[in-house]
Amino acid sequence: MAGEGAIPSVKGPALQNRLADAFDVTVRPTAGEAPLVETLANDLRAVVTTPQELPVDQQPPMVSDRLPALLDAMPVSPLAEVLRPLARDLDWYQIFDSSHTDPSLAGGLMAGQVIGGRGKLHSKDLYLGLFLLAPHVTYPLHQHAALEIYHVLSGEIYIRHGREKLSMHVTAGEHSVTPPHQVHELRTGTEACLIAYVWTGDLTGENWWWEPQEDGSWDRVCWQRQPDSSWKVTRREPLSESEILRAGDG
Ligand SMILES: [Fe+2]
Repeated sequence: MAGEGAIPSVKGPALQNRLADAFDVTVRPTAGEAPLVETLANDLRAVVTTPQELPVDQQPPMVSDRLPALLDAMPVSPLAEVLRPLARDLDWYQIFDSSHTDPSLAGGLMAGQVIGGRGKLHSKDLYLGLFLLAPHVTYPLHQHAALEIYHVLSGEIYIRHGREKLSMHVTAGEHSVTPPHQVHELRTGTEACLIAYVWTGDLTGENWWWEPQEDGSWDRVCWQRQPDSSWKVTRREPLSESEILRAGDG
């Protein structure tokens, strides 16, 4: 688009168009992923967003410690180049409360939204942002109604789509698409990882974690998104056969 390159604007439509253009040319889906990636791309282009001022807080120490090296190592891609100048300037926050979660996960997973409730562009209908994961972090098996993509910008991660499935090794420039309700797990090894994520569809804010029980059965535990975009546990239930099938783990 004429003139955009000369003015480093982060105003609503201009930034959203640049993100949508960059997503289109950066994310190369497999044939099986194509319909879901098309939905993500179309929603990213069409969603109504409103620019908002973010609080100017200190970044969490994990972000200030690890983000510079991840950005230095980030390979060039159209999506990376739109996100690179924004990354240090986001309202980074810790997603999970350490009183309810393994401390290595609580302190090792940070989010910075570009589009969303805490994003530079406000939206309740689609979220786009960055996840920063420290080394040796496991975000355990979980499922949600939203359609999701993780595009690795820097570092590497292992993503698993079921209790008995093998992990996929996803490196910078690669992605993983998670259909609605598909159970999935993220795990870092010895390296930190910077991911761009997009969530669309049913953003009702329920995130069900799967937990093995001592008797060999499984429960699922509901984390509910709070108004500040953090998550809290609200209920628990046995994992049913129908839910296992819906989660792609039958
Ligand atoms: Fe997810």
